[in-house]
Amino acid sequence: MKLRKLATLALGAVLVIGLTACADTTRDPVSSGGEEAGGLIGISMPTKSLERWNNDGANLEARLKEFGYETTLQYADDKVDMQISQLQNMINQNVKVLVIAAINGEALAPVLKTAADAGIKIVAYDRLINGTENVDYYATFDNYLVGKYQGEFIEEALDLKNAAGPFNIEPFAGSPDDNNAKFFFSGAWDVLSPYVESGKLVSQSGKAPATNDDWASIGIQGWKTDSAQSEMQNRINSFYTGSTKVDVVLSPNDSLALGIAQALDTAGYNPDVDWPVLTGQDADIANVKNILAGKQSMSVWKDTRTLGDQVAKMVDQMLKGETVDVNDTTTYHNGVKQVPSYLLPPEVVVKDTVEEILVGKGYYTKDQIGL
Ligand code: BGC
Repeated sequence: MKLRKLATLALGAVLVIGLTACADTTRDPVSSGGEEAGGLIGISMPTKSLERWNNDGANLEARLKEFGYETTLQYADDKVDMQISQLQNMINQNVKVLVIAAINGEALAPVLKTAADAGIKIVAYDRLINGTENVDYYATFDNYLVGKYQGEFIEEALDLKNAAGPFNIEPFAGSPDDNNAKFFFSGAWDVLSPYVESGKLVSQSGKAPATNDDWASIGIQGWKTDSAQSEMQNRINSFYTGSTKVDVVLSPNDSLALGIAQALDTAGYNPDVDWPVLTGQDADIANVKNILAGKQSMSVWKDTRTLGDQVAKMVDQMLKGETVDVNDTTTYHNGVKQVPSYLLPPEVVVKDTVEEILVGKGYYTKDQIGL
């Protein structure tokens, strides 16, 4: 409930401040602000295995270079130790700022202390870093809203307000070590749990968490496609035999949705006949193709270009001693401090809007998504 209120407030702020931010994109980044830009910025990304992080890294590098900075970009193969040693190397190279999408939001406090002692500023990128005072700013998409959009999509697709039901739902959640995952789940579950309580939505596997706080019990470690696939296969094999069918799957993102779709395929579900409602997030190419093929119902798209733009701007503002853009100072407490944040708005994409939104806004070419 608290998260929801905060998210609503934050959305209002995004709308207001987003307009100002848009108006600002024409300024010349290098010549504005007085002080000369320059210096090395370290960018630490979790993994190359997920499409979005490749886009994030490339785009953020390009934006920072436009602002006159040099960059060093490293991917850590989803291994916490590797990310820590890459960060240590960047500290040794005297970076001015570290921009970090953390693999494990709890594990970076010691290395960030070393960074802060060396005068390096720290920006948490997309995922909050917990348990340390050494995180200066956070920029992300409105994570609660991502989940809320997924929940609302399911509510509408099944017409839960009016239909008698019951419908069989299988819920999934993201990686327990990723601070975003609980926000995604809460956003969705605040919409869906009343229907679970009333019996309109039933989880035959018994995996529906009793409360939002129990989300990690259905979390898929490392957001792995394979693990989501085998979990879905197990649930289908054990609980969906005979004429009992899955009607809807809450998937927090596209890497899980891909595995879930594979399990549904294997079990003989057919997009023209009985394919369940299936949610996602990121609008990865493979998932957009699945949306077009009727094997995924929607994805919550986060235009990672806007996140790169925003973070590059915040880095530049920080280093020039200017006021740093934030639009939320209440939602993201990392256990030690309230981290000043900038939240960007996500957007729902469905089969009918793929072309208009993703191609129209230049995110993908028609060729890339097989149109
Ligand atoms: C990001 C999602 C992504 C997931 C897996 C989350 O922290 O916000 O966009 O799908 O990590 O990489």
